[in-house]
Amino acid sequence: MWKKSLALLFLFMLLLLAACGGDDQDTGGKSDDGGDSDGGGEDTVEIFSWWTGAGEEDGLLALIDLFEEKHPDITVENAAVAGGAGTNAKAVLATRMQGNDPPSTFQVHGGAELNESWVAADKMTPLNDFYEENELTDKFPEELLDMVSKDGDIYSVPVNIHRGNVLFYNMELFEENDIEVPTTLDEFVNVLEQLDSAGVVPLALGDKESWPATQIFENLLLATLGPDDYRGLWAGDVSFDDPRVVEAAEHFQTIIGYVNEDHASRNWQDAAQLVGGKEAAMTNMGDWAKGYFSNDLSLETNQDFGYFAFPGTTEDFMVITDTFGLPDGVENPDTVKEFLSVLASVEGQDAFNPLKGSIPARVDADTSKYDEYGTDTMEDFQNSNLTPSLAHGSAASEGFLTKINQEVNIFVTQQDVDQFIEKLKQAEGEL
Ligand code: GAL
Repeated sequence: MWKKSLALLFLFMLLLLAACGGDDQDTGGKSDDGGDSDGGGEDTVEIFSWWTGAGEEDGLLALIDLFEEKHPDITVENAAVAGGAGTNAKAVLATRMQGNDPPSTFQVHGGAELNESWVAADKMTPLNDFYEENELTDKFPEELLDMVSKDGDIYSVPVNIHRGNVLFYNMELFEENDIEVPTTLDEFVNVLEQLDSAGVVPLALGDKESWPATQIFENLLLATLGPDDYRGLWAGDVSFDDPRVVEAAEHFQTIIGYVNEDHASRNWQDAAQLVGGKEAAMTNMGDWAKGYFSNDLSLETNQDFGYFAFPGTTEDFMVITDTFGLPDGVENPDTVKEFLSVLASVEGQDAFNPLKGSIPARVDADTSKYDEYGTDTMEDFQNSNLTPSLAHGSAASEGFLTKINQEVNIFVTQQDVDQFIEKLKQAEGEL
């Protein structure tokens, strides 16, 4: 009898041990026991982003190194999900947020992506006190603070500013073919034609995921509409059947005629590689491509590759800002704030941005840490009309963007302007 009781007691103790000391790694950074995040009682911060691999992760890794140096007691879990522009990461994030299993902090674009997807759904904690405690309120341009605020509350911290209306080009190819940098759409089309006749692939595109093509289209919209009416599109003041939208679609059709044949099987890095390797003359990409050229291909700014604003948008700056916030329901908000304060610091921004190709979001960063591309871009940011990117989540809701990416994908294959405009018009309701 006593043997049986002892066995039962033993079993009970085993169960108790399993319940208390169990490894909770499968909860993705959260523990269910009300204690610290996982890691056996250690304090952990799980950073969710889509920065993996070439041209993407160097900045993040530098920021994590800096954080670990400052906080050796906190474990960093780098929960990056591969796929440019968050193609896969955003879906994983949505599932986790819906399942009340948020990462400690996650990459999110300022503007609609933050405000309409997460703030409106009551999933984020306001950071007004954090901004005040860290004396941050006057350290970011007002336009950026607006993009991370809703109804007077601030919800995330921008780590960078990327520019989306940039054309990067192979300088040798431009020189050999006597190409002048085009500033208008007509000049651009002439340059495409000139290169094509010389047997050079004029424009490298990698639209395996359709957003790089959407990015070309948004730059064309900016060129034909101008900054005010481009903004008006997202505010519902300009309609998608406006003749200037049609004009943008027609230019888009022309431009698609000059891209590499294998565009649908390449991603943005593979397309940029064509330019770096002198196999294509230009590529339109956000300036994370600058990070890729410098860090991964070891190319020199203004020697191997040059850059200019997308023709017709020389006075404008398509703003893409990556930001990080504090989701509701994380168990160690103070630890997350420690990470956010390193990310918000001059040191943090200057560790991240020179490697990422972006400029610091802070106004008081150390410009000596940036090369000519960075300093040029900082100057342009000061002097340009700032416009929100559609392809990178700031201009319109995620639902609308998904629709547009699909329609762009169809357009690139079928090149039917009327049908494209009709579909854009239909999607208007999702804005
Ligand atoms: C953007 C993001 C950039 C870069 C790019 C390519 O959406 O803002 O930081 O990562 O995607 O993946």
